[in-house]
Amino acid sequence: MKTDLTINGKAHALEADTRVTLLDALRNHLGLTGSKKGCDHGQCGACTVLVNGRRINSCLTLACMHDGDEITTIEGLGTPDALSAMQAAFVSHDGFQCGYCTPGQICSATAMLAEVHDGWPSHVTDDITAHAELTDPEIAERMSGNLCRCSAYPNIVDAIREVANNATKEAAE
Ligand code: FES
Ligand code: FES
Repeated sequence: MKTDLTINGKAHALEADTRVTLLDALRNHLGLTGSKKGCDHGQCGACTVLVNGRRINSCLTLACMHDGDEITTIEGLGTPDALSAMQAAFVSHDGFQCGYCTPGQICSATAMLAEVHDGWPSHVTDDITAHAELTDPEIAERMSGNLCRCSAYPNIVDAIREVANNATKEAAE
């Protein structure tokens, strides 16, 4: 089946079986191996990508369901010479050890900050009618779908907090 996808700003006409997941399409058909396969059943978040700006576990969705969609993978957030703010913060805060979970963490954190910006509450938000403060428990809850076997969580939270604080400062200027 043919599926038209825009991935990291580039059009792709994917020819694949209807049973191929988005993760396998990215990795095995299109050569975009930044998104990782940890569990292949929605438990670890290593495969997180953005679909039309929202984070999604790409192992839990079929590629053919995304005809016409815009997909962003870790390769599309930044490049080695021009890292995104979140990528740079993960480097400067040492937010990884083996790095296997890192593409999913960074894609997830990038979309998570957009969710906070849009006023989405989380399970630990006390007042769901107010704009949530991005406290450490809020970050932990909102990132709870992304597991790290190396347990780099404190540094991951530091990196996310820095990007969130910088965005707040820039908005105030
Ligand atoms: Fe998709 Fe683990 S590989 S959630
Ligand atoms: Fe190794 Fe997270 S850095 S699993």
